[in-house]
Amino acid sequence: MALNVKRPNGTQDVVPNEAYKWHTVESVVRDSAAQFGFKEIRIPTFEETGLFVRSVGDTTDVVQKEMYTVSSSGDKTYTLRPEGTAGTIRAVIENGILNEGLPQKVFYLLSCFRHEKAQKGRLREFHQFGCEMLGSASPAADAEMIALVHIIMQRLGLRNIELNLNSIGCPECRAKYREALKAYFEPHRAELCPTCQERLEKNPLRLLDCKSAEDQAIAKDAPLITDYLCEECSAHFEGLKKNLAIMGIEYTVNPRIVRGLDYYTRTVFEFISSDIGSQGTVCGGGRYDGLIETLGGKPTPALGFAMGLERILLTLESQGCEFIEEKTCDLYLASMGDKAAEKAVEIASRMREEGFFVEYDLVGRGLKAQMKYADKIKAKYVVVIGDSELESGTAKLKNMASGEQTDISLGDGLLDDFGAQYYEMMLSTDEEFRSFVESFGDGQGE
Ligand code: HAM
Repeated sequence: MALNVKRPNGTQDVVPNEAYKWHTVESVVRDSAAQFGFKEIRIPTFEETGLFVRSVGDTTDVVQKEMYTVSSSGDKTYTLRPEGTAGTIRAVIENGILNEGLPQKVFYLLSCFRHEKAQKGRLREFHQFGCEMLGSASPAADAEMIALVHIIMQRLGLRNIELNLNSIGCPECRAKYREALKAYFEPHRAELCPTCQERLEKNPLRLLDCKSAEDQAIAKDAPLITDYLCEECSAHFEGLKKNLAIMGIEYTVNPRIVRGLDYYTRTVFEFISSDIGSQGTVCGGGRYDGLIETLGGKPTPALGFAMGLERILLTLESQGCEFIEEKTCDLYLASMGDKAAEKAVEIASRMREEGFFVEYDLVGRGLKAQMKYADKIKAKYVVVIGDSELESGTAKLKNMASGEQTDISLGDGLLDDFGAQYYEMMLSTDEEFRSFVESFGDGQGE
């Protein structure tokens, strides 16, 4: 009996016909990050468990409930990364990147793993594009990171995305806030979920992002961190707002945003889409000035963000945004008979060397079925090669969009003939190709 294996709950396959949507997002984020001076970093899929416990925090949902941890032989345990920041900072310290001049700016595109209750927009394996900037304490850096997210959203064509902004202060202002939170939640202790009863002692801030509906209802009227910010933290927050105003980026100050990870200090932000349901946070980030030191590096202020690519794609789809279409086959070589099939192989090799996207029959189909296949793969042109074409050395080149047919040499003139047709067709159908040609002063006045 065949093994009936299904995709694990909370994971997704990206099928070939959908991959172009991912490529669109990936190319926009890569290009935008590069334009802001970010370089790619690639890190392992798993790290020592202790890295996440120390950085993300032992009272967070991520560490307490959602990590995929395995033990290898020996006593070390490893965890599939639940996010990208901790591993990135580990790698930055380990590779001496902080000695190369500050600020350092890195970006990553990676998969993350969290054992959450799967639902629309919430997966167990998901993908993040993230950026981290190391070495700037200035609020201008906070604004810069937000500006990068903002421009990416714009370039993708996303609408109805609200930027929510908050400051959760530094360890000093947070100490007073902790006491206020404890005093507020203490009378409700018995009503809290068991995890939050424990958190009340260790880290009452975490009660504010508990996913339990009952706890959320209690937390609704809890004191606000913004009332406890020290002078420096307030000044930093004002500095950020001023920079955002200069950049013309709109935001809402939302004192309820605390983020679900422990490493944040001062600025935290979320970009929220109103079009994809309850899991609408498409990007989250903030400052984490103490993390590098916690992980053994020299004290260095830092900040970053990560976008959930599945949520970005959901939003793009729900808004009917456009994607960059995948390149399709330039020429399909249909053949009849063994000799013609050999000719097709020879022509395809020559044309591929010239950079054309060429395909031919590999399953022994009849001519009609080959034509059907060429249509299905959206081939731009088809050439049919049979005995008479082999004999005359010329064949008909069919433009699949217009149905027009022209003669094409199968011998030495083939590339010139095809090249001329292809150029004409691209000029008339491909906006990008035309402006590329025109930028060289060619084709002007056409
Ligand atoms: P985070 O808010 O936990 O932050 O995740 C960032 C983004 O990843 C979320 O806004 C969301 O779009 C996406 N995401 C998170 N969990 C899931 C899930 N289960 N399914 C689908 N998408 C999800 C971080 O991870 C921080 N490391 C961000 C950061 C970088 N802060 C500073 N630098």
